[in-house]
Parts: sequence; structure tokens; C-alpha cells
Amino acid sequence: MTAAQPLHADERPIKPRRMEFDMSQLREKYFFRGNSILSTLMYALSASFPDGERFFINSVRHYQKQIDDPVLIDQIRGFIGQEAHHSRIHEDFNDRAKALGVDMDTIDRQFKRRLAFARKRFSPAQQLAITAALEHVTATLAQWTLENPEAGMGTGTEHSPLREMLVWHAMEEIEHKAVAFDVYRATVNDERQRIAIAKIIFRSFWLQMALAQVKLLWSDRRLPRWREVREAWSFMWGDNGFRSWSAPEFKRYLQPGFHPNDIDQSHLLQQWSERYPEVAALQVG
Ligand SMILES: [Fe+2]
Ligand SMILES: [Fe+2]
Repeated sequence: MTAAQPLHADERPIKPRRMEFDMSQLREKYFFRGNSILSTLMYALSASFPDGERFFINSVRHYQKQIDDPVLIDQIRGFIGQEAHHSRIHEDFNDRAKALGVDMDTIDRQFKRRLAFARKRFSPAQQLAITAALEHVTATLAQWTLENPEAGMGTGTEHSPLREMLVWHAMEEIEHKAVAFDVYRATVNDERQRIAIAKIIFRSFWLQMALAQVKLLWSDRRLPRWREVREAWSFMWGDNGFRSWSAPEFKRYLQPGFHPNDIDQSHLLQQWSERYPEVAALQVG
């Protein structure tokens, strides 16, 4: 494979922000609109992050020494710093969920087994392609989260650590969305493999989330009410529902020649501290 120069459509430096969230403010197990399906989706996502983000870091680190572009070298450092901090904060959130009686250990084991399988079964190049694909998933989730503040992840309450954490995490995911992709281009640079892996990842991601949700509901002996099912369906598949909105965004990634910076999300990062003063106030470094 010939190595190609990575694109730097956006050369903004990537700086980790150290944050402190007060997770004790999360008091309801089914905090998300009182809906057990939507709340368990958030728990499943959060449970997947600590080990998942460490997997991302390791897959990029494997190729770090082969990179000689100083901008990308800097961005890799920022990416690693941001993801390491996300892992820690999500661990705090997951601990809080456990304290509320959510069976996080069971789904944590599910995600650990899945990642152990990926490390054993896939080559470093394929693991980097997995990371690049999942970074597209997180950047897409991030855009939807920031563009739909009314989605209800704790909005309307005076103080929601989940919402504050998601705003911060979403912004940093958008900031570093192209790093793993650029490392892949600068080293592995196999477009067919990138697309083939992404097809598997985009399908299996939601299956893994659904499986984790079923486990959580089962362990709580909770059968969602019809109202919850209807509400969750419209959240995912209604007009501007997350899944209906994101389907074409995922397809874009499968086009040969695609680059994450082809999707301009920079407006979501501008003046963030003015737009989210309550989140900016939680930055400690
Ligand atoms: Fe992250
Ligand atoms: Fe990320």
C-alpha cells in the first residue's frame, strides 16, 4: 500500500479539557424521561465507553511511531488525552449507575468479551479501521446530540450531570473525529478494508447496544410499558429521530474517498463556552 498524506481541512489543535461532574446529582435509575428503554440505551452507551475508548487509544498508538507529520503527531496526543479522560468520566457515571441499582457489571462483561474478541481476531490494521469507523459513529451521535438539545437527556432539570457530560464529550468527539482516520490513511491506507470493516461495525454496533439493553431490563425485571415503547420508537425512528437522521450519515462513510472533514460540524464547536456556560463552569484544567 502506498502511504497518502492525511487531510487537514481542520487543523485546530486538539486540547483535552479536564472536567469535574457531580454524578451524585443523578438520582433516578430511569432518568431519561422516566423511560426505561431510552435510559438503558444511555447506560449501554456509557458502559461501552471506558474499555472502548482504551481500545481506540491502543489501536492509534500502535501506528503512532510511523507518523512523521507534526500536525498529526500533535493531534494524536490530543486525541489520546481526550479519550483517556472520557474513559475516566464514564467510569464515574457507570459507578453512579451501579449505585442506583443498574446491573452495569453484566454489560461491562459483554463489552469486554467483545473487545477481547476484536483484539484476538483482527490485525492492528483492522483494529485501526474499527476505531476509525466507531469514531464516525461517535461524531455522528455527537452532532445529533448537540443539534437536538430538546431531546430530553435531562434538559428541563436544574442540573443534569448526564447532559453536561454529553455536551462536553460530544464536542471533543467532533474535535478529534478525523485523527484515527488520518492515521489509518497515513499508514494502512486500504480503502476497501476501511469500508468493509465499517459495514460490519455499523450493523453490529446497534445490535450490541440492544443486547445490553435487554440484559439490563431483564436483570431489573422491567417490562417497558407501551408508552415507553412508542416514545423510544419515535426517538429513534420518528421525524428527525436519531436512527432515521443518522442513516444517510453512516452511508456517507461507506463512499470511497470519504473523509470525516467532508462533514462540516465546526459550527457546533464555535463559542461553546458562551453557548454552554453551565458546562464551561465545570472545566478545571
Ligand atoms: Fe470519547
Ligand atoms: Fe473519540
